[in-house]
Amino acid sequence: MQFTETVMDHFTNPRNVGVLEDADAFVEVGSSECGDTTALYLKIEDDRIVDVRFRTLGCAAAIASSSMATEMIKGKSLEEAWALTNREVAAALGGLPEPKMHCSVLAEDAIRQAINAYREKQGLEPW
Ligand code: FES
Ligand code: FES
Repeated sequence: MQFTETVMDHFTNPRNVGVLEDADAFVEVGSSECGDTTALYLKIEDDRIVDVRFRTLGCAAAIASSSMATEMIKGKSLEEAWALTNREVAAALGGLPEPKMHCSVLAEDAIRQAINAYREKQGLEPW
């Protein structure tokens, strides 16, 4: 299986790894296809993601996708972050082999679930 240089870069040197003790939203999601998991922490101010951390127990593509996705949502509004699709994350990585596309879904799921967890805390309807 061929990974792009960008995938290998984000896999071997993932950005935003770790936890946020004072996170405003936290979720842990699992892939229904393989059982890999991602934990995601968001720090939110004025409906904007001011900080983000993740921990992924999964394959190279899942780690690279989480890393890239966190870079893409940092500083973005919740609405913009919600709109980010796994296809966009994969494209930013220079593409993923088709059997590895589901690995990027983990990041998209985690972001959307974290946003809804935050909305729930605020007493808002889920998106
Ligand atoms: Fe083994 Fe994802 S199934 S790392
Ligand atoms: Fe499961 Fe990659 S094989 S996320």
